[in-house]
Amino acid sequence: MRITKPIQSTAGLFALALSAFAQTTMQEHPEAYPRADIEYGARLYSEHCDRCHGANGAGVAGINLASGKFRSATTDGQLRMVITNGFPTAGMPPFRLDIADLTGLVAWLRNMNAIDRGSLKPGDPARGRVLFEGKGACESCHRVNAHGSRKGPDLSDIGTLRSAGYLERILVDPNGQLLPINRPVHLVTRAGKAYDGRRLNEDTYTVQMMDTDGHLQSFVKADLREFKVSTKSAMTSYKGELKPDELADLVAYMLSLKGAQ
Ligand code: HEC
Ligand code: HEC
Repeated sequence: MRITKPIQSTAGLFALALSAFAQTTMQEHPEAYPRADIEYGARLYSEHCDRCHGANGAGVAGINLASGKFRSATTDGQLRMVITNGFPTAGMPPFRLDIADLTGLVAWLRNMNAIDRGSLKPGDPARGRVLFEGKGACESCHRVNAHGSRKGPDLSDIGTLRSAGYLERILVDPNGQLLPINRPVHLVTRAGKAYDGRRLNEDTYTVQMMDTDGHLQSFVKADLREFKVSTKSAMTSYKGELKPDELADLVAYMLSLKGAQ
């Protein structure tokens, strides 16, 4: 931006600051969406949308998906609705996609203009599975399709529940992502028996947990001598442990876990 006239009034300065802010947020737009979501969305787009809209987004007459402006949607929420409902009479079928898929597609639509699809390096689900079952030792805490441990949440349908960006973040910052309900708990009954595990559910009077042996336990709070909920995740960060490529492969594998159909 070039300023040709000195600005005297504070109102003018304020306006200048505002427009500078608008400009940086525009420039920084690509970073507003997690890279993992953009990559996953680009893959889904080529699978589901290319055939009509084309790789450049201009395949349907009168519509340019890469322009960042949509006739029928302004917000991301509206874009999700457009994709979900389609335009059956005008020739776009409805898409029954889950949260992970919709989040990815919207992230890609918002960034089509700024990012060259060929430059993206999406992870590989098959390599991710090998990491999950091998070097990553994820199965020592997690279960997928009846394989593995119950210490951590069952991940059999994690690919329908969580976005690519979330899955990438939890691997490098599990504490930042800790879902309150999944927190580690420590409790001691009046009889003096101690239990450690993961909280599954809690209401005013009772708490349910999965103990470290994978058994479901339910307690009446009034019967407890001690009840502590940890703010620290039982999962350690894989930042530095695994290479960025390996993290991307794990994310791709988890996104492929869509549960039993
Ligand atoms: C069979 C062809 C077809 C497929 C596949 C298809 N679309 Fe469309 N899409 C259309 C047509 C035709 C329209 C224009 C509808 C109208 O004119 O009202 C449209 C409109 C849209 C719009 C609204 C554009 C605007 O300016 O408001 C969006 C967003 C969109 N499509 C996204 C997608 C996405 C994302 C996918 C893949 C998940 C997809 N479409 C798959 C044919 C298709
Ligand atoms: C030492 C046990 C342990 C290991 C090893 C472990 N996790 Fe976890 N993980 C947990 C626990 C416990 C949670 C529940 C939330 C929390 O405590 O952070 C969790 C949460 C998650 C979640 C979020 C689930 C949701 O519903 O949002 C994902 C995804 C995940 N882990 C993936 C992995 C992957 C991939 C690996 C291997 C690279 C791994 N975990 C290794 C214990 C573990």
